[in-house]
Amino acid sequence: MAKRIDVSDLNVYYGDFKAVEGVSMTVEPRSVTAFIGPSGCGKSTFLRTLNRMHEVIPGGRVEGKVMLDDQDLYAADVDPVGVRRTVGMVFQRPNPFPTMSIRDNVVAGLRLNGVKSKKALDEVAEKSLRGANLWNEVKDRLDKPGAGLSGGQQQRLCIARAIAVEPQVLLMDEPCSALDPISTLAIEDLINQLKETYTIVIVTHNMQQAARVSDRTAFFNLAETGKPGRLIEMDDTATIFNNPNEKATEDYISGRFG
Ligand SMILES: Nc1ncnc2c1ncn2[C@@H]1O[C@H](COP(=O)(O)OP(=O)(O)OP(=O)(O)O)[C@@H](O)[C@H]1O
Ligand SMILES: [Mg+2]
Repeated sequence: MAKRIDVSDLNVYYGDFKAVEGVSMTVEPRSVTAFIGPSGCGKSTFLRTLNRMHEVIPGGRVEGKVMLDDQDLYAADVDPVGVRRTVGMVFQRPNPFPTMSIRDNVVAGLRLNGVKSKKALDEVAEKSLRGANLWNEVKDRLDKPGAGLSGGQQQRLCIARAIAVEPQVLLMDEPCSALDPISTLAIEDLINQLKETYTIVIVTHNMQQAARVSDRTAFFNLAETGKPGRLIEMDDTATIFNNPNEKATEDYISGRFG
C-alpha cells in the first residue's frame, strides 16, 4: 500500500541537545496512528517535525528525511507554510482566537489564504463545523466569541479550524487531555469519522484511548534521562497492546514502567 508519510532515520535537536534519535516509520493514508510513551521521550518533538513546526523553535534542527507522498518535506525548495497547510495540527489546550467569532475562528486560515467571498467562507464554516461535529451546537451563535464555548466545544472548534483549510494529514498532540470523559468520547468519535478522509497521528497518554482510536501504535522511550528518545516499536495497535515484541513496551502498557 502507498505510504502517506515515510520517515527515515530522523534526529531532532534543540541546539546541541539531541531530543529524538534515529526514528524511521511509515504511516498509511486514512489511518490513525497513536504515539505513546513516557513524558519527555520526544513524542511532541517528533510530531512537530511532521509539519515543520519544530524549526520555529530557536535552535530547532532536524536531520534525516520526511516524505509526504512524493514530496520531501525538508527539501530546499519546500515552503514550510505550505507544509503546515497540508499537515494540520491540533494542540493539547484548545486555542481558539478568543475574541474572534466562532465563524471567523473556523475560516481564519482561509482568510489568510486570500479567500474574501462571504458566501464561500460561510459554506466552508458550515462544512467544517459539521465535519467537527459541532454545527448543531453552535449554528445559532456563529457570531459569538469562540472563547464562550466549553473546553470540549473549543477543541472541536480548533479541529474545525484545522480541517477548514483541507489538510491531508492531521496531527493531534494530546487533544483530549484537558477534556472531560464525554467530550473525550466526542473527539474520539470524530477521529473515527475523520480518518475516512484524513491521515491522523495522535499523541496520547491514555492507553485506552490509543487502543480505541488507533490502527497502529508507536511506542517511544528514553534509555535514560538526558539521552535522546527513540522509537522502540511500531505495530498494529492490537499487537502492541496484546503481544508486543519488546519488554519495555509491555512494561509501559501494563503500567509497570519506571
Ligand atoms: N523548546 C525546547 N527547548 C529545549 N528542549 C526541549 C524543548 N521542548 C522539549 N524539549 C526537550 O526535548 C525532550 C522531548 O520533549 P517532548 O516535549 O517532545 O516530550 P514528550 O514525549 O512530548 O513529553 P510529554 O509526554 O510530557 O508531553 C525533553 O527532554 C524536553 O525537555
Ligand atoms: Mg508532549
